[in-house]
Amino acid sequence: MNSVGLSLPAPVVQAALAGCDGPRLAAAVSRAGGLGTLTLCAPTLEVTRVRLARLRALTTRPVLLAFTGEWEKTGVLDLCIAAGHRHFQVFWWNGPRLVRRIHDQGGVALWQVGTQGQIDEALSHGADGLIVQGTRAGGPVRSPHTLDELVPSLRAQVGADFPLIAGGGLALREDVKHVLALGADAALLGTRFLLSQESQAPQAHKCRLLRAGNEQLILDTRLVGQWPCSPRRRLETRSLPDSPSLYGGEGLSSIHDLPSAAQIVRQLVP
Ligand SMILES: Cc1cc2nc3c(=O)[nH]c(=O)nc-3n(C[C@H](O)[C@H](O)[C@H](O)COP(=O)(O)O)c2cc1C
Repeated sequence: MNSVGLSLPAPVVQAALAGCDGPRLAAAVSRAGGLGTLTLCAPTLEVTRVRLARLRALTTRPVLLAFTGEWEKTGVLDLCIAAGHRHFQVFWWNGPRLVRRIHDQGGVALWQVGTQGQIDEALSHGADGLIVQGTRAGGPVRSPHTLDELVPSLRAQVGADFPLIAGGGLALREDVKHVLALGADAALLGTRFLLSQESQAPQAHKCRLLRAGNEQLILDTRLVGQWPCSPRRRLETRSLPDSPSLYGGEGLSSIHDLPSAAQIVRQLVP
């Protein structure tokens, strides 16, 4: 992924985890040689400024900053650039308005996609790399396809040098090896890092997820919570509202511990 200024000793990317990521988690993943991600979902510019300062104090390695909110204040991108960040994640609804602004400021835009239509749209808007989501993902799922279906044909379409990160349902070292063999440059993992020491999910929710397996996950299509426009894969619960700290992908059955983020990176990569 040298073309976008990313050389990762460990080809592992921590997915955006809404309010459950944070400077500590993102920095720990990047310091371990992977690429951490910090969600830009703070309510005010001042909170964003503080989070970016905390992140910078913890690492100077690249971290991906993910625009996951419904709408972002104009100043957020400026703050990130001023703090020395270049790598941004965008999605189907904000990519069209953000990619040009990111490029104008010297940044790089990685766009999350899950269908050929989304891929074509991202490429037509000038995405610098794609984050390919397979249908086994936790949280908002916008892909009906497996990674086995998506990644090889996409690699053939974009050529050898175009950055591709692939995830959805990954948890183990074999999973990482598998997506790299399919043609991805790095593996994306969300649920695995949600169940880390540094993630900001409440401890009680981490324990519930750790005790559960894939058979307790549902695709929630209710029009509630964050991202109601796409189904969310989450733990089935009787009464709890839609909450990112209960999201989980189909790698869940392979996850049985709560290590530090650095230990996870080491477990995933020889
Ligand atoms: C706790 C959590 C929060 C997430 N929040 C978002 C989000 O705000 N926007 C989004 O597009 N995807 C979100 N995702 C999906 C991730 O971007 C990624 O596609 C997914 O985690 C990969 O699958 P995995 O969890 O099985 O590794 C979230 C996933 C989790 C687990």
